[in-house]
Order: sequence, then structure tokens, then C-alpha cells
Amino acid sequence: MKRTQVAIVGAGPAGLLLGQLLHKEGIDTLILERRSAEYVANRIRAGVLEPGTVDVLERAGVASRLHAEGLIHDGVEIGFRGRRHRIDLKALTGKAVTVYGQTEVTRDLMNARASSGAPSVYEAEDVALHGLEGPTPRVTYWHQGAAHEVACDFIAGCDGFHGVSRRSIPASSLKIFERVYPFGWLGLLADVAPPWKELIYANSERGFALASMRSPTRVRCYLQCSLEDRVENWSDDQFWDEFRRRIGEEVGALVTGAPSIEKSIAPLRSFVVEPLRFGSLFLAGDAAHIVPPTGAKGLNLAVSDVLYLYEALRGYFRERSVRSLDEYSPRCLRRIWRAERFSWWMTRQLHRFSDDAFGTRMQQVELEYLFESPAAQAGMAENYVGLPFEPGS
Ligand code: FAD
Ligand code: DHB
Repeated sequence: MKRTQVAIVGAGPAGLLLGQLLHKEGIDTLILERRSAEYVANRIRAGVLEPGTVDVLERAGVASRLHAEGLIHDGVEIGFRGRRHRIDLKALTGKAVTVYGQTEVTRDLMNARASSGAPSVYEAEDVALHGLEGPTPRVTYWHQGAAHEVACDFIAGCDGFHGVSRRSIPASSLKIFERVYPFGWLGLLADVAPPWKELIYANSERGFALASMRSPTRVRCYLQCSLEDRVENWSDDQFWDEFRRRIGEEVGALVTGAPSIEKSIAPLRSFVVEPLRFGSLFLAGDAAHIVPPTGAKGLNLAVSDVLYLYEALRGYFRERSVRSLDEYSPRCLRRIWRAERFSWWMTRQLHRFSDDAFGTRMQQVELEYLFESPAAQAGMAENYVGLPFEPGS
């Protein structure tokens, strides 16, 4: 039987970043990923990094391309009733966000892993966790037709919402909090210069739209869509026509309908599991929580969990500190719930909810208050750039 100190399930941003931080600390890891490396590297997802996330990536030694190519945004805009209102993140908080795709973060982390020589197994099938409550946890899996077994001290469940880790915990040991929203986001990626300088989150009568970007020559745009909708129902022309209607006249007039490189639909969900630990298994990232994407928090929250998990494991391996392990879940949950609140609030204020006249009025006064009140803007800005990390013990 092989042995490692920390078996990491999942090579998304959470698993790869944890592997990199632990490697720098001299702690052995094995990463097991169900998909191929190519699939993982090309998955299109989030795009906005909090400054705290950038700091952690720097600490992991994977931020040089991010600093060279990432776009610094000092503000974001909210569109409502044909007007755009800027939230000046920099003036309100002293901080800015970095626009740099999750695909790029993943690629940087995969390259760092390859250079470190630390082992990763892609296309690992039937990963199963064993002995989580006892002294000898193990992970089994199949790879290229052969069965494998690895003994370890701890298992990091970084395998996303649909992974095996959370499902390996008995239901009686978990409490689940969930809200499913009655709509999804249709996303489109296209190679064209964005005719907007900063991200625009638009609440329009036809539904929500988001104008984002990946680089000076690549846009990423989203439309609120029905849960029954299918990507095949939307030609590129239909997407751009609807986007022009929702994003507001001034920007809409500048939108050229470039052909899509990718189109996909994601459902919106709020989800938290408590606690994030069961014996020697620690959950991190989407395995433990989902936020609706409106606040751009999913990837950032995965990074803060990983920072806390890295500190907890470092505390254990350096000083045999059981306390640092015990603190992992409550420490994460305090930050997770704040990000859940902000993502829920952004989602609530910016989407169309059918047949909810009272809710629509509440949205209107909430947004008007935001546009008029520097205090309300400061609250939004503080959350958008990311709440501070809690110092570890
Ligand atoms: P993941 O990135 O999901 O990585 C988990 C990894 O585990 C995957 O590589 C998966 O293949 C692997 N895995 C799963 N099961 C197993 C198994 N049994 N064995 C081994 N490996 C396994 N956030 C935003 O902020 N903005 C967005 O626009 C946005 N868009 C999104 C669109 C989609 C379709 C999704 C699913 C998420 C989106 N998110 C977005 C959220 C953000 O991308 C996630 O929060 C982030 O990817 C979390 O990273 P993670 O490493 O925890 O999980
Ligand atoms: C992007 C996604 C988000 O969910 C968001 O809030 C901002 C930007 C993006 O994919 O660019």
C-alpha cells in the first residue's frame, strides 16, 4: 500500500492550491482527480479575484502571470432602469479586484504542480474514502484498469458539489442548508474587445445580465434564463440581441455580436454543509458550500477555505496541534456564511422573480438606497472586495 500525508480528492482550484501550499511546507500530498487534465484545464467558470485571493496565490508562488496579465478593476457598475451607477471599490475600501479567469488560475496551479514533481492522478475512477473515524484513513481508486490503495493521515475533500467526499459522511453527522433559485445563468465567451471598462451587473425588466471580461480581447457575458432553457435554444445572435436589450442603451449600442467560443447554463443555488470536518476528512470549496455566482464569491471562498485548511494541517504537522484542526470548521463557517449572505443579497436585488410585486418594490428601494447612500455603497464594496481573513491561532 502506498502512503502520503494528505490525500487530496479533486484537482479544481481548491485541491491544486492546497497541494501547492502543503508542498511548499514540505508536506506530502497525492491529488486524485476523476477527469482528465485537459478537461480540468479548459472548464470555463469564475473570473473575479479578491485581493485576499491574490495574496494567497502569491504566497503559493503562482501569481507571476496573474500580475502580468490580470486586469485591475477599481470599481463595478450596477445597471437599473436604463442608468448605470458606479460603485467605487477603491475609494470606498482602498482595494481593487483582479479580473483573471479561473481557467488561468487552474493552469498556473497545474504547471506549479508539474514542476514540483508532487504526484497527481488524473482519470482516477471510483475514488472511495475509508476509515474516516479511525486512526488509519485510506483512499482507494482505480486507474488504467488497476486497483490502488493509499494510506494517509488526512483526506482533503476538494471534489466540488457533486464529489464523493461529502457523500462519504453519514447524513446524521451533517446539517444541510439549501436554497435553489428559480432561474439559471446562460454564459457566453467570445473573442472581442469588451466595449465596457468595468463589470456591469444589470437589473433589467427582461431579467438580469452581466457584462464581464477575461482580457482586453475576450468578453464573458451572462443572461438570467429559465431553468428549462437549453443552450441549443440560443443562437449567438439571439444571445446578443437579448444582451443588448438588458445591458442598457449606451453599452448595448456598442456591442458587436461576436461568435461564441463557449456557451453554458448554470443553475443558481445557495448551499452550506455543517460542519466541514468528519474525523480525518476535511471538506473545502464547493464540496462544502455553493453560492449563486452574482457576488463572484465561489472561487474566492474556495481559496479562503484552503488557506485555513493549510494553516490547520501545518499546525498539526509542525506542532501536533489538534486545536488547529478543531478550529478549521468553525473558522471557515464564519466567513462562508458572510459570503452566502452577500451572494444571496446580490442575487435577490438583481434578478427578476416572477409574480412578486412586493419583492420588486423592495428591490427598487434597496437599489435606490444603494445609489444614494455612501454608507450602503461602502457595505457593498467591502463585501465585493472580500471580507478579511481571520488570523489563525
Ligand atoms: P471544483 O472546481 O468543482 O473542482 C472539484 C474537482 O473535483 C473537479 O475537477 C472534479 O472533476 C473533481 N471531482 C469531482 N468528483 C470527484 C471524484 N469522485 N473523485 C475525484 N475527483 C472528483 N463562481 C464564480 O464566482 N463565478 C462564476 O461565474 C462561476 N461560474 C460557475 C459555473 C459552473 C458551471 C460551476 C459548476 C461553478 C461556477 N462558479 C462560479 C463557482 C466556482 O467556479 C467554484 O466555486 C470553484 O470552481 C470551486 O472550486 P473547487 O476546487 O472547490 O471545486
Ligand atoms: C464573472 C462571473 C461572476 O459570477 C461574477 O459575479 C463576475 C464575473 C465572470 O465569469 O467573469
